[in-house]
Formats: sequence, C-alpha cells, structure tokens
Amino acid sequence: MNNLTHLIDKLNSEHILSKAEFTELIGNHSPEDAKYAAKLARSICDHWYGKKIYLRGLIEFTNFCKNDCLYCGIRRSNQKGDRYRLTKDEILECSDMGYDLGFRTFVLQGGEDLHYTDEIMCDIISSIKSRHPDTAVTLSIGEKTYDQYKKYFDAGADRYLLRHETANETHYSKLHPKEMSLTNRKQCLFDLKEIGYQVGTGFMVGSPYQTPEYLAEDFIFIHNLQPAMVGIGPFVVHHDTPFKDKKNGTADLTTFLVSLLRIMLPYALIPATTSLGTIDPQGREKGILAGANVLMPNLSPTSVRKKYMLYDNKICTGDEAAECRLCLKNRIEAIGYETVIDRGDVAVTPLD
Ligand code: 5AD
Ligand code: FES
Repeated sequence: MNNLTHLIDKLNSEHILSKAEFTELIGNHSPEDAKYAAKLARSICDHWYGKKIYLRGLIEFTNFCKNDCLYCGIRRSNQKGDRYRLTKDEILECSDMGYDLGFRTFVLQGGEDLHYTDEIMCDIISSIKSRHPDTAVTLSIGEKTYDQYKKYFDAGADRYLLRHETANETHYSKLHPKEMSLTNRKQCLFDLKEIGYQVGTGFMVGSPYQTPEYLAEDFIFIHNLQPAMVGIGPFVVHHDTPFKDKKNGTADLTTFLVSLLRIMLPYALIPATTSLGTIDPQGREKGILAGANVLMPNLSPTSVRKKYMLYDNKICTGDEAAECRLCLKNRIEAIGYETVIDRGDVAVTPLD
C-alpha cells in the first residue's frame, strides 16, 4: 500500500512542495493518506479559527454573461438559458433580509454583464455598506481593469473572488474560448491584491482534461499568490454545454485537495462549496471535516434561483434563504461546529 504521509508532513512543515511531489501526492494518494491529511488539516483549521464556520450570503444578481467558458451553464452561447438581472432595490432587499438572518458578508456574484456599469456597481456597493456598515462586501464579477477594481474598492468593496480555473496554459485553452487568456486572469488577481482586496482564487476539481500535474501547478500558483480565500469544487456537467458528455469531478478528490490547501495555507478561508454539496448529499459536511471553514448559502430571490444554473442539479434552488440558513446551522452543529454571526475576515494570528 502506498504511503505518502511523508509528503503531507513535508507540506505541513515547509508549506510548499515541488511540482513532482505535488503530482505524486495528488495522483497516487491512498484513502489512508486522505484521512491523515484531513485530520491534520482539521487540527490546523481549529488552531486558527476554532469551531467557527463563517457564512457568506451569496447574491447571484445577473446570469447574463459575455463570456463563453465551455463548462459553464450561463455561457453566452447557451440559448436555452432564461436570463435575468436583479435591480439595485432587489439586491438591497436581499442584503437586508440576509442581515436579519445573521449574515455579515454579502457576495455579489454574476456573469460578466456590461449592463452593470462601474457607476451602477459602485452605487450598489456603497448602498449596501451604508445600510450595513458592519458587513463585508465581496465581489465575484470577473475580469476587469485595474482602474475598475480600484473604483469598486474605493466604493467600499472588501474582497474579490476570481477563480483562476487552471494555472496551466494548455489546460486553460481547452476550457475557455480563444479570446480569454490565463495571463490576463492571473494579472487581475495580482492587481486585486495590490489594490488591497482580500483576494480569493480557486479551480474546479475534475474538470475535463485535468491531470495531477496540472493540479500541482494550481497549488504552486496559489502558493505564489498567497490568497486570503481559496474556493474549489468538483466540476459538474451542465447538459447544455460542449462538456455535456464529460464526467463529473469527485467528492473524494475535492476533499483531499481541500485538506492540502489548508495545510499549505493554514490561515485561508476555504468554503465547502455548493457544487460539493451537489455531487454528494454530505459533501459540505465532508468539506468542513477535511479543513474548510466557510459556507456560502444563497440569498437570491427564489424566483431566479433556478436560472443561475452553472451546472446540473444544483442544490437549494427551491429553498428560501431562511430555510438554508437553518438547514446549514443544523448540519454544522451535527458535526460539532457552529455557524457564527461575524464578517469572518482572514485570520492573521492563530488562536492559542
Ligand atoms: N461545474 C462546477 N463549477 C462550475 N463553475 C462554473 N461552471 C461550473 C461547472 N459546470 C464554477 C467556476 C466559476 C464559479 C463561479 O463556478 O469555477 O469560477
Ligand atoms: Fe439549502 Fe440545506 S443548505 S436547504
């Protein structure tokens, strides 16, 4: 039986491995190695964050997108998608309701939709911040210029999520149309950091053509970026995309990689994602037990939930925000953790 615990220990002491070592660990680990990594990752997370699990209220405010990523259900070529946009007032209503439910971070996520000019975005951001000054606003609206990112930051945005998707050029070009470039995406991430955002990146696990070697490159890129947040979730097929006949990623590999991320970046905010909960009914709990410490339930109005379908069978599309809030509280308490009313900023020093 393979035993790669020495590589897990090395990652724990040096916080980085060579590309060959990451490739070996990711490609050849045993279930026992994964258990070992999860136990270590969980103890590191407890050391930095205790038993607290932070909640982010996700507001999916538009499913219009000018991009055409091959994996994504809201890509512009998907003619079958039913498109919607939330108005400023609808977004503010979501945030008010979320505030009352105990959320202290709002994530504004959408396709790359040019309808929302910088002026509109800044107005929405500053309105949320003035109504709820004790909250953090996270943006997840794709690739913009340095100046645009700076405007949103000056309007009050605190954090930005932009998954790099894959750090390998060849792989990137198989997942994206020609007009998109990995170089630009990486530049965006470094721009966001320089401006002062808490930055999140990430990738899909088991995306078409992915190899352990490409995943090793993802880890090395993330190590170089040193983000505050890293979101990973399994690739899940969407039936109206060019990847409709591909295979889904797995919960086992996703949770193992969550553990490795936690060991590499002890302080990071790492969500147990909705896609992990979609491919496995216990996926989010497994993510937490492997080292994740964030959950991102949906606050969007139920009338539009089913339309923000990045992939098939997405969970929680029929549930009111309050139901998800309660469901998550119960699920998390059942595994010995607690959801907290807190902005949940990135930790700078571990708990004693
Ligand atoms: N399966 C899983 N995750 C997906 N995303 C987009 N499409 C899919 C899919 N089919 C992820 C991307 C994106 C994030 C918002 O959702 O990684 O960055
Ligand atoms: Fe949405 Fe359980 S989290 S219903």
